[in-house]
Amino acid sequence: MKRSAINRCIAEASAFFAENRFLLPPYADWTPEEWQQHGSEADEIRTNRLGWDVTDFNSGRFESIGLTLFTLRNGSLADGKASKIYAEKIMFVRQDQVTPFHYHVRKTEDIINRGGRGTGRLVVQLYNSAGDGEFAQSPISVTCDGIRRQVEPGGTVVLGPGESITLTPYLYHAFYAIDGHGLIGEVSSVNDDATDNYFKEPLPRYPEIVEDEPPFRVLCNEYRMT
Ligand SMILES: [Fe+2]
Repeated sequence: MKRSAINRCIAEASAFFAENRFLLPPYADWTPEEWQQHGSEADEIRTNRLGWDVTDFNSGRFESIGLTLFTLRNGSLADGKASKIYAEKIMFVRQDQVTPFHYHVRKTEDIINRGGRGTGRLVVQLYNSAGDGEFAQSPISVTCDGIRRQVEPGGTVVLGPGESITLTPYLYHAFYAIDGHGLIGEVSSVNDDATDNYFKEPLPRYPEIVEDEPPFRVLCNEYRMT
């Protein structure tokens, strides 16, 4: 992705979160220069990759395959046991913008439609994974807001505002918004985007970046440790 596109995505996501009264912590607004002024006191943010995350999964087609996220809290499994055992993200899922099929081995996540009037619904498509990484053709048992339900392989669950789904390890999921852009939350166990995303089609989690203008914000995978 071009840096100019990433900059624009962050500005648009900031405006979308603000319009919908989802307020971000102070470091969401730190410029690259402000990051240089913060030392080891901010290492939790850097180590656990909190903050901005824009990706097109290197598709080159961000509008149709991509995602803009902000990680609000997270622990780290680097030392074998996390001191903080939970994570939270807020996501700006554009209408018809797909996050491709993937599953997690360690992470269980609730995906939550936190939108209000005028925001979209989230379509979540599901398959169980077979041992070889392929889709299994078995029915899926999934829980939505405490209610267990069955979904056919490749079937979808549509989340309206306030609704959520619990995605357990090895459950393939892909999602996109309809009827408007989605204000989508994620509450999960510790998140490790570097090692715990298993995409159906091999895709990088983070895009290659073409530096065509200076960065507006530092991305979560760009922090330099102090
Ligand atoms: Fe996921």
